[in-house]
Amino acid sequence: MTKIHIATDLSELNSFAADKFVSIGNQAIDTNERFTVALAGGSTPKSLYRLLASDDYKNRIDWKRTFFFFGDERPVLPTDDESNFRMANENLLQPLQILEENIFRWQTESSNTAENYANTIKEFFDLSEAEFPRFDLILLGMGDDGHTASLFPFTEALQETGKIAVENWVEKLNTNRLTFTFPTINNASNIFFLVNGTSKAEILKEVLEGEFDRDKLPSQNVKPISGELLWLIDATAARLLNNSSDN
Ligand code: 6PG
Repeated sequence: MTKIHIATDLSELNSFAADKFVSIGNQAIDTNERFTVALAGGSTPKSLYRLLASDDYKNRIDWKRTFFFFGDERPVLPTDDESNFRMANENLLQPLQILEENIFRWQTESSNTAENYANTIKEFFDLSEAEFPRFDLILLGMGDDGHTASLFPFTEALQETGKIAVENWVEKLNTNRLTFTFPTINNASNIFFLVNGTSKAEILKEVLEGEFDRDKLPSQNVKPISGELLWLIDATAARLLNNSSDN
């Protein structure tokens, strides 16, 4: 099931997202005694993370039963300005004093990072060899080229069907990135796309209303197998959509 929520601005988008985050988290904790969430990188989620760590939200979920993963990472140390872990740590994890054993980051300081991360996830979710994890929630952003996580247009990782997490060479960035694969993303119970800003309007129209093109528009491959996909979009990003109404 895919739903679209168009928020008046980023603040409303974040409030809507935070309310849904808490609701999904509490439902997961009630059902499974834990909440597993994979965080997004980039800049859009920063204000959402700050809101979740604020007095308005920090007491609305049992963080001791919440386990944090990352949908992708840059090949940098966790202290680097470019690190997705660092951004989440500074804006969410440290302010909430999340316990270290509740945080599973890509060990970018070691070798075989993607394979090690996949093994960590297999162990945490107690998976058999061919199984994929079922995260309660995966947060995603979308780049203005239609990429999501570190699944960039015309890159090898788009074709991956067997692995949970991979390294992905991104020519345009001249770097290897680390990313969940689509089978991992699409096995989640809930997926949020957080898309904000006028610079995303054109690509968002192409992704949501244009022709399907799995390699040119990677975000179009996000289709939960048996979960909910929620596009959380602010009005400026939604301005070119035909039916820019909630559904
Ligand atoms: C990353 C993110 C990436 C991000 C998009 C959108 O590592 O950069 O995982 O997929 O979500 O590039 O980024 P913004 O939200 O900053 O526009």
